[in-house]
Amino acid sequence: MTDLTKDPLVLFMPSGKRGRFPVGTPVLDAARQLGVYVESVCGGRATCGRCQVSVQEGRFAKHGITSNNDHLSPVGPKEERYDRVRGIPEGRRLSCSALVQGDLVIDVPQDTVINAQVIRKESDGRVIERNPAVHMCYVEVEEPDMEKPLGDLDRLKAALAQDWHYDELDVDFHLVPRVQSILRKGEWKVTAAIHRDRQDDRPRLIALYPDLKNEAYGIACDIGSTTIAMHLSSLLSGRTVASAGASNPQIRFGEDLMSRVSYVMMNPDGREAMTAAVREALNGLIDKVCEQGGVRREDILDSVFVGNPIMHHLFLGIDPTELGGAPFALAVSGAVEVKSSEIGLPMNEGTRTYMLPCIAGHVGADAAAATLSEGPHRQDEMMLLVDIGTNAEIVLGNAARVVAASSPTGPAFEGAEISSGQRAAPGAIERVRIDPLTLEPRFRIIGVEQWSDEAGFADAAAGTGVTGICGSAIIEVIAEMYLAGIISEDGVVDGTLAERTPRILPTGRTFAYLLHDGEQRITVTQNDVRAIQLAKAALYAGVKLLMDKQGVDHVDRIGLAGAFGTFIDPKYAMVLGLIPDCDLDKVKAVGNAAGTGARMCLLNRGYRREIEETVSKIEKIETALEAKFQEHFVYAMALPNKVDSFPNLAGVVTLPERKVLADGDDGGGRRRRRGRG
Ligand code: FES
Repeated sequence: MTDLTKDPLVLFMPSGKRGRFPVGTPVLDAARQLGVYVESVCGGRATCGRCQVSVQEGRFAKHGITSNNDHLSPVGPKEERYDRVRGIPEGRRLSCSALVQGDLVIDVPQDTVINAQVIRKESDGRVIERNPAVHMCYVEVEEPDMEKPLGDLDRLKAALAQDWHYDELDVDFHLVPRVQSILRKGEWKVTAAIHRDRQDDRPRLIALYPDLKNEAYGIACDIGSTTIAMHLSSLLSGRTVASAGASNPQIRFGEDLMSRVSYVMMNPDGREAMTAAVREALNGLIDKVCEQGGVRREDILDSVFVGNPIMHHLFLGIDPTELGGAPFALAVSGAVEVKSSEIGLPMNEGTRTYMLPCIAGHVGADAAAATLSEGPHRQDEMMLLVDIGTNAEIVLGNAARVVAASSPTGPAFEGAEISSGQRAAPGAIERVRIDPLTLEPRFRIIGVEQWSDEAGFADAAAGTGVTGICGSAIIEVIAEMYLAGIISEDGVVDGTLAERTPRILPTGRTFAYLLHDGEQRITVTQNDVRAIQLAKAALYAGVKLLMDKQGVDHVDRIGLAGAFGTFIDPKYAMVLGLIPDCDLDKVKAVGNAAGTGARMCLLNRGYRREIEETVSKIEKIETALEAKFQEHFVYAMALPNKVDSFPNLAGVVTLPERKVLADGDDGGGRRRRRGRG
């Protein structure tokens, strides 16, 4: 009988799972028994190379383990053959062949690349532990025998049950007519793609390949209302092999979400036209990532999509009309699982699509994915996650409780409604500084390294010219105008400064600030300041409602998601009062967090369960129904805020003394100053 206390102790990293196993246990079996996901396509025949692991050598006092390469059996003939034919990287072993001989710390790498692949772009470099919904299983099927009348498909099922323990296998019908030819083509050696999302689902055969098929891919996609981003990843190594983006062609039906809902309401075929447009763009992107990654479309076996509720509905072919008004009813809020071919995305006939759940009628699967990626629900700190678009999606919480809302910020942050606003493109002003003494600005434009007051700027900018202000710079210029005293805390451009500088221009009853006087005159008008104030007040009021619900007056950490969040400087966002006060070191751009969340769900079905459960617990706040929204909104019109203090911000920025001006006030006579109490 085995003495369990004497059996070697094996610890798997990064999962930290550990257990004792008798000498002679294949490392792959040990991993399986502990529920550690180690890929295997060939079923331990040492031909796929997917099961690679490495030994961490040394003394691990905390675990009482001294781990050493010698604690694995020596390389045997099967492993040697694989190394000769395909090559095993230095320090790696095939876990199906390496046997436990002593205590071990085993590293399970998440990037085992078998066919050297061109890596065009790592999506965000994050390593995602894998446990995909699709499993590739090589089997050798018994040949037909006159004595045993079992059908070819049934013998394939028997082989999968015996080698892979996939009992009670369902089979996609499209494979039934093809099974015989595939088995014969592969000379009874085939690789089955088995799809099982939930552990208690019956496994399903979705694709079948002759011989050893040692690769399978999936796509993860964030359908934004402006842009669509797609990543193509290997399901067997987790590597992102290609990424591509495109504009959402639905823009031609309406810039913002509500105008697209209106389009559906006003036009009999509006929904169909928008669904067709987004699916066409997605098909184009699939072709693009396949071409970039050198992958055949039919080798994509799984896909995950996220999007805001209206994108979610239009993509799935659901009429979004109900989302156009209260009570903002979603057709479906839970996760949607469907065959990709049924939603107009032909890849492999067996390819599945998983769409993350929506949080509420205004807070979509994209916010759910961003939540999964940034994990407020996994931490003790109170984290605020904001995705700023025409509709800001806001999530606030920690491990104890998560609340979510959306705020109608409008398109001002994207440069619309701003007199000199434009999308981020070469020639657009992206950074601004204003000297508080001279009130002279200096700026940088996209595509040019130098600042506008540096030598060489004029030459470098000659190609594009200075064309406008992009969204991130609008935040910056208005914050700088406030810090320089050009606008008051109420956002009024101070006309009295016209005596000091020609940059203050009268515009009827109000004033504007001249940022650039070139071929194109770029000014920041009183209306521009108002538009940004309205947008930021809407966002901040939404955040405050969530803080009220949580009963907190500060947040510990802030994640700014999306393209806008990537480019704005957190300090300026705070000066403007777009976000609440917080330690600036803890305010971070989190990039395309929604896309990362989608990729997590693609590579690990455990994350699908995690976000389904989390979303079911998130409390949804409808800002329009909350009485305090208006009050928060009014206070938030001030810079940074009429009532809330910003102690962290005040530690790094000198906030100007309070200066109160009325719209149209020339500043003379009615101006008063008082300190910030
Ligand atoms: Fe295929 Fe080890 S499982 S090589």
